[in-house]
Amino acid sequence: MSIFRTKSVERSIEDTEAPEHRLRRSLSALDLTVFGVGVIVGTGIFVLTGQVARDTAGPAVALSFVVAGVVCALAALCYAEFASTVPVAGSAYTFSYATIGEFPAWIVGWDLMLELALGAAVVAVGWSGYFSELMAALGVHLPATFAGEHATFNVPAVVVVLALTAVLVAGIKLSARFNLVIVTIKVAVVLLVIVAGLFFVKGANYVPFVPDAQPTPAVGGLKAPLIQVIFGLTPVAYGVLGVFVGAAVVFFAFIGFDVVATAAEETREPQRDLPIGIIASLALCTLLYVAVSLVVVGMQPYDRLSRSAPLAGAFRVVGQNWLATIISIGALAGLTTVVMILMLGQSRIFFAMSRDRLLPRGLAAVHPRFGTPYRITIIIGVATALLAGFIPLSALAELVNIGTLFAFVLVSAGVMILRRTRPDLPRAFRTPLVPLVPILSILACLYLMLNLPVETWLRFVIWMAVGVVLYFAYGRRHSRVEQPSPARSE
Ligand code: ALA
Repeated sequence: MSIFRTKSVERSIEDTEAPEHRLRRSLSALDLTVFGVGVIVGTGIFVLTGQVARDTAGPAVALSFVVAGVVCALAALCYAEFASTVPVAGSAYTFSYATIGEFPAWIVGWDLMLELALGAAVVAVGWSGYFSELMAALGVHLPATFAGEHATFNVPAVVVVLALTAVLVAGIKLSARFNLVIVTIKVAVVLLVIVAGLFFVKGANYVPFVPDAQPTPAVGGLKAPLIQVIFGLTPVAYGVLGVFVGAAVVFFAFIGFDVVATAAEETREPQRDLPIGIIASLALCTLLYVAVSLVVVGMQPYDRLSRSAPLAGAFRVVGQNWLATIISIGALAGLTTVVMILMLGQSRIFFAMSRDRLLPRGLAAVHPRFGTPYRITIIIGVATALLAGFIPLSALAELVNIGTLFAFVLVSAGVMILRRTRPDLPRAFRTPLVPLVPILSILACLYLMLNLPVETWLRFVIWMAVGVVLYFAYGRRHSRVEQPSPARSE
């Protein structure tokens, strides 16, 4: 039994037809774009902009967003091709199974837990932070032990995760409607920041746009970016290197466009609509991010931006308290859908893995009335709630980034491989300039990964090692890739 055995694209598509594993197809291209924006705009823009401007890039944080946006655009072109060729729940996992083989596919599935379940928990903790701030503005002070970024048991984070789990179990169309309302609020708030903020921009705040590089010996050791350690550089903040280190962090803000691909089996015309959903949502968010970050660093000197709520903070500083409160409410609403859709993506990936028996098969059961994979959704909801409730996760955002970038590398490689092994497959969307674009995508993702701290790399390697052990202990023996499809046999 080769660990590089593949599962054909036809077989993957056939499996989606098995009656007990069939999801309900109800989403359109617009639904997918709204889904994309719903999961993309979140902690990255509402929180990380301030941190990265202050500590890493200065006003050039806007350039960090451009760099991260370009890297994501390259990966998105590859995602769009595979999503239009293999429109099956499971995203990068399914795609790797069809191209590189079962073991790499398992590795991707395992790796994606970092992006999705861990990502959801990180954003839920951020949600709790905004919630306590908003309550404080309304005069209700929640005890720091039970709410906010540093809680011992984070009650609001747990409550929001469990409530969203219930929404996800009740059905994807309901989730899409709920999402539409929130995305409208979220985009309106972001536009409000851009338009209202312009009135308070001061040219002096943009000078110097790229502050001179400064050595930061205190950041040495495990916290230094791997690339600076490899080349024996003293860790620096700001300067041109700072723009790239900043890009590796604000990359978090773009995470989610790939989650659109996990909704493949719930899309009415996946071949046409998935590429539209992926590319449109990414393009829209990139524009918003560059505009927001330019406005915010223009409103306040970068070294004084708030670390936890920079957008609202910039408006408070210019005396616009009511605008700041509206922004906090928008951020809170916005983070809600991010948590929800990350969990949705996670459940669809586990769904695909258990359908293939790399995870226990009972997990793939679909609810008779709601048409959703309810068991897996509930398990993920409880696990995410526990993570968010007990562990101060904001420090783990970079682990989410490295996991996601790694998946992008494998998907980009998969596009090149599938072009060679299956040139005959119908591809509704074709990545332009293959192999140039996939190769650039791989190099760009690897470069951003190298800009992440040494400690993030260590955590990543340990997590992946655990995954390898589990594959050989369970998945390899239970895989049913060599048995007939249940669409035919059951
Ligand atoms: N892109 C998502 C966010 O910024 C994960 O919160």
